[in-house]
Amino acid sequence: MLTRLIYISTAVGPVTTAVTGTILRSAQTHNEVNGITGVLCQGHGVYLQVLEGERSQVDALYERITLDKRHHKLVLRQQQDVTRRRYGKWAMAHVNMAHLDNAQAQQPTAFDPYLATAEEVLAKIDALIATGKVMNAPVV
Ligand SMILES: Cc1cc2nc3c(=O)[nH]c(=O)nc-3n(C[C@H](O)[C@H](O)[C@H](O)COP(=O)(O)O)c2cc1C
Repeated sequence: MLTRLIYISTAVGPVTTAVTGTILRSAQTHNEVNGITGVLCQGHGVYLQVLEGERSQVDALYERITLDKRHHKLVLRQQQDVTRRRYGKWAMAHVNMAHLDNAQAQQPTAFDPYLATAEEVLAKIDALIATGKVMNAPVV
């Protein structure tokens, strides 16, 4: 059974390109082997990740991720069975959270994933993918 999981977390320490690069590299290596796809959004010291794959694989990965000392305050936003993958092209795509900010507003506001619903999060990521602002790997 395919499942999709979305969680939000707060980085421990500054999020540098090197930290993100290391996470993305291990994500891309393991995820390809384990049939996991998804998106990692990062910015303002916060992570938001979408994981898709076989439920047993996604559960095992999420358990590993919850033990990772590079972040804390994990909040599981959504876990549901799905019939198809939304991000099937990416072992782990990378999105800068700044691209999710509400820049159109008169008073531009920073996107706070802790306050958003899962639907809002997915809609924002889809809009970004449509504009081509999604990277498969970070520029390190
Ligand atoms: C925000 C965040 C997202 C992560 N995403 C993944 C992921 O998608 N896949 C993965 O295998 N590891 C991911 N990791 C890393 C795991 O927690 C763990 O460190 C890693 O899988 C161990 O791999 P290694 O054997 O290459 O060290 C993530 C870590 C953090 C902090």
